Amino acid sequence: MTRVVCPGSFDPLTNGHLDIIERASFLFDEVVVVVLVNDSKKGLFPTEQRLELIAGATAEMENVTLDSYAGLLVDYCAQNDVQAIAKGLRAVSDFDYELQMAQMNGNLTGIDTVFIPTSPEYTFIASSLVKEVAKHGGDVNGLVPRNVLTALDEAFGH
Ligand code: PNS
Repeated sequence: MTRVVCPGSFDPLTNGHLDIIERASFLFDEVVVVVLVNDSKKGLFPTEQRLELIAGATAEMENVTLDSYAGLLVDYCAQNDVQAIAKGLRAVSDFDYELQMAQMNGNLTGIDTVFIPTSPEYTFIASSLVKEVAKHGGDVNGLVPRNVLTALDEAFGH
């Protein structure tokens, strides 16, 4: 059985993330979506809420489970019998840093990273941009799942 992780900050989950999670769920036996907790970076949504939003949006995906972790991703993988890391790649601009992380993770424990190309319609979507647009009342409908849209409206008081 091949278990992979889809790691990220997911602050918040976007339709780009969801596309990668779903496609990973078609390729692998089990996908664990792991929200990595970064104490030095205060996000918009607390970890618990990020997990709830991902849970709502992936409820129909039977081989997808959720978790959170504060520490090195490779340690999570070693402790949870995870064979590979699945990451989405939006554009060449993502590649430099993603390659560096993949090679660092490989160097640490030998774990491999599988890159899944982002579907073209989601290439421009990033959680940071979604938050900026939503904060100023811009329309992010279609860029995030419906439950995230509601959470953004509540967070920004719209
Ligand atoms: O959604 P993001 O913020 O682009 O995801 C980046 C993330 C969380 C996957 C990455 O920062 C990570 O793996 N953090 C966990 C700590 C770690 O293992 N750092 C070393 C990476 S080589």
